[in-house]
Amino acid sequence: MAITKAVIPAAGLGTRFLPATKAVPKELLPLVDTPALEYVVREASLAGLRDVLMITGKTKGAMLDHFDRLWDLEAVLEQKGDIKRLQAIQDSAKLATIHATRQHAPRGLGHAVSLARKHIGDEPFAVLLGDDLIDPRDPVLPTMIQVRQRLGGSVVALIRVPPEEISLYGSASAQLVDPALLAGLAGPESSGAVFQLSDLVEKPDPGSAPSDLAIIGRYILDPVIFDALEHTEPGRGGEIQLTDALGDLASRPASQGGGLHGVLFTGRRYDTGNRLSYLKAVVQLAADHPDLGKDFSRWLLEFVPQLTLDHDG
Ligand code: G1P
Repeated sequence: MAITKAVIPAAGLGTRFLPATKAVPKELLPLVDTPALEYVVREASLAGLRDVLMITGKTKGAMLDHFDRLWDLEAVLEQKGDIKRLQAIQDSAKLATIHATRQHAPRGLGHAVSLARKHIGDEPFAVLLGDDLIDPRDPVLPTMIQVRQRLGGSVVALIRVPPEEISLYGSASAQLVDPALLAGLAGPESSGAVFQLSDLVEKPDPGSAPSDLAIIGRYILDPVIFDALEHTEPGRGGEIQLTDALGDLASRPASQGGGLHGVLFTGRRYDTGNRLSYLKAVVQLAADHPDLGKDFSRWLLEFVPQLTLDHDG
């Protein structure tokens, strides 16, 4: 069955970016000139996921507006002959059909995903977290979709992280899948090994992680996840954790939609989840930007030698 639907949880309060996120959702903070959310919707669209459900909080309106046609703004740009910007704002409206549902209380990622049940029905679907941006040159979703089609069950994207970082992520024990089972799959080089996962832990305490493999925010889920989420008790932070429901799926038989695999991602990824990583992402994307990259890089090279580490605190 083709996978055509994506869910983007976007109901977080964005407290790490206050006061910027007092009235603007963190998903709309720009990376150079494009909101993080547009990168994520574009990634979904390029992978054939053109039905996107956003799980929103109080700032739903602005997020939906971003993917809508804005006729008055289009008319102004057209009058000015600013075709480039006109195309840019029309383009974001063509990426996908956007739907939204509200999460009324911050009860966790698992709870947010459970709210998609009615919209998704009985189909496999993708979940994309907006804090993780995957460089379009290194797509991972197509490989994950192929792994689901070949092996069934659900699939997550993984990266290897140093021990001091694993507590920021969900982690799992992993066993390499026999490459013979994957023969013929066309995956880009950036998406290498495939693992069978078990013993999932959300944000393990330092020293107790099952492996150095961290789940990043890309998931292909069997619809049986909704059943698992219904039975998932609040976990880490008192919230309903998607990782805990995935642990349940990992131990269910394939005949019941169970099984969980991980695709190791070694491509370019930008974490926009906190101020420091967001700044790094902006600098990287600016240096690569088609219009600004050259000028920005030239300035950056002049600026960097003047830097000192002489800050208070
Ligand atoms: C969420 C998930 C976690 C995953 C992470 C990836 O955590 O709960 O398992 O590793 O996304 O970014 P969050 O970063 O939203 O706290």
